[in-house]
Amino acid sequence: VIPVSKPDLGVQEINAAIRVLESGRLSDGQETSKFQDEFRNFTRTGYCSMVSNGTLALESVLRAYKIGKGDEVIVPPLTFFATIEAVMNVGAKPVFADIREDTWNIVDESIEEKITKKTRAIIPVHIFGNPCEIPWHQTWLSDKFSVIKIIEDCAQAHGSKIRGNSVGKNNGCWSFYATKNMTTGGEGGAITTNDPDVYSFVSKYKNHGMIDRDTHHILGTNGRMSEMEAAIGRVQLSRLEEMNRVRKIQVEYMKDKLKSVSWLKPQRILPNHESCYFWNAFWVDEEKVGYTTKGLVDFLKNFLGIETRYRYTEPLYNQPLFRGEMIEKLPNAEKICGKVIGLPCGTHLKPEELDYIVDNIKKI
Ligand SMILES: Cc1ncc(COP(=O)(O)O)c(C=O)c1O
Repeated sequence: VIPVSKPDLGVQEINAAIRVLESGRLSDGQETSKFQDEFRNFTRTGYCSMVSNGTLALESVLRAYKIGKGDEVIVPPLTFFATIEAVMNVGAKPVFADIREDTWNIVDESIEEKITKKTRAIIPVHIFGNPCEIPWHQTWLSDKFSVIKIIEDCAQAHGSKIRGNSVGKNNGCWSFYATKNMTTGGEGGAITTNDPDVYSFVSKYKNHGMIDRDTHHILGTNGRMSEMEAAIGRVQLSRLEEMNRVRKIQVEYMKDKLKSVSWLKPQRILPNHESCYFWNAFWVDEEKVGYTTKGLVDFLKNFLGIETRYRYTEPLYNQPLFRGEMIEKLPNAEKICGKVIGLPCGTHLKPEELDYIVDNIKKI
């Protein structure tokens, strides 16, 4: 079976991990502070704080803005559950705004309809790596709704850009989980921000609220990244551009070759936007192909040996934990969720495998 993705970890990452293990300094050291500097430079933001995972990154920023009980946070219905989990864990209510039919990202118009007096934040997700253009480029948000904060979910967007600029300048929350375009060895996260108060809060929050070894200023948690994770992350960051370049060539090749397949539609990347192609994502026209998406995914794997990504099979408001309370169905979310697949891409993929995938999909 051709795997859909594979972490690209080699001798450099292994050596980095060994270097830390032999150093005797396993936490709170140079690797973490250097990784923070390097990631801050990479995103061109004022501050960066490494944390233990992406979910904690989101939660810490929400807490930094004192968002909690009685507050509403606007979120997309097509994302990994962690986006709304962070909102609910601080006690706030997720309010779903519809996505665009072509980019699968949330948009200004649907966001504006959802804004109430209780709205405190919007979490745009750069879904599958496709950068979400959000109102911060326009004045309407800051003019009309100055209390509303933007918190970018960049968990899938390492290297994604809008007009040449990295995403994540507005409280970017990053994940370095095992499957991402870059990993810190399985788990990890970061916050990038231009808000010094957010940085200061997060630095304390992730470290038991401490300002020194024995003084706890706020109620915090243990959300630190380890030195070994940071050392692996530094190597992965130095290789990210090259790894993303390979993905881009593959995805663009496949999109071009599959243009003639009427039942597959690639996720639209807007002009001046660059996806890091976390997913090589396509929407399946089930009527045209005569399969359900799940049926297609099984067929590709079991009969053709092609593994695909198939997740977020329902708009998140349908999750059982809401017990049917979220009654509003959003039309584009209903159309897209459950009908999106990710074809293989990444440095593990051989050129002949690319052609095998393309040729066999064309025959369906
Ligand atoms: C969109 C999105 N948000 C948040 C997260 C949470 O990140 P983590 O798994 O590092 O907690 C993930 C992924 O894992 C994600 O894909």
